[in-house]
Amino acid sequence: MKTLVAYFSAEGATEKLAKELADRIGADLFVIEPERPYTAEDISYMNPMARCNREKFGNKDVPVIGRVENFEDYELVLLGFPIWYRAAPNVVNTFCKEYDWRGKKTAAFATSGGDGIGKTMEKLQPYTCGTVVDAKLVRTADELVDWAKKLQDA
Ligand SMILES: Cc1cc2nc3c(=O)[nH]c(=O)nc-3n(C[C@H](O)[C@H](O)[C@H](O)COP(=O)(O)O)c2cc1C
Repeated sequence: MKTLVAYFSAEGATEKLAKELADRIGADLFVIEPERPYTAEDISYMNPMARCNREKFGNKDVPVIGRVENFEDYELVLLGFPIWYRAAPNVVNTFCKEYDWRGKKTAAFATSGGDGIGKTMEKLQPYTCGTVVDAKLVRTADELVDWAKKLQDA
């Protein structure tokens, strides 16, 4: 099944897993990279005026660099990201809005600072035309690969 792994990572945890996943399941990889990279100050959420808080609570779009080529060819899209405010970061929502997800199988994997996956999937669904089939909090590359292979085989 032609598979794309598209991920956003601000601090590297999700990136490490996403790269190993793509490599081990033979998927293409796309980095969801904001036009303006996040500095440490931008993501210091304890500061009410930090960029991450303004984006979240202002419900702002976060423009992404580049586009996935031939997006229509992918049958399975695995979206990876850190949990921010118990959901996908705004930049992931912005990325999703740019594409036509009809007919695709889509699933999400996330890393977190301790929260579970919660309602991440339900919150993401409106941006992908309601096709997200699963969302999973992951800690190791092995569990991520097992999960992805099952989705590819289903
Ligand atoms: C702006 C911001 C919001 C976050 N919100 C949550 C949260 O709601 N729950 C949680 O468990 N972790 C939260 N975290 C922690 C990240 O999910 C966690 O550190 C993640 O593994 C980082 O992934 P990355 O290294 O790929 O960026 C937040 C981190 C940031 C920077």
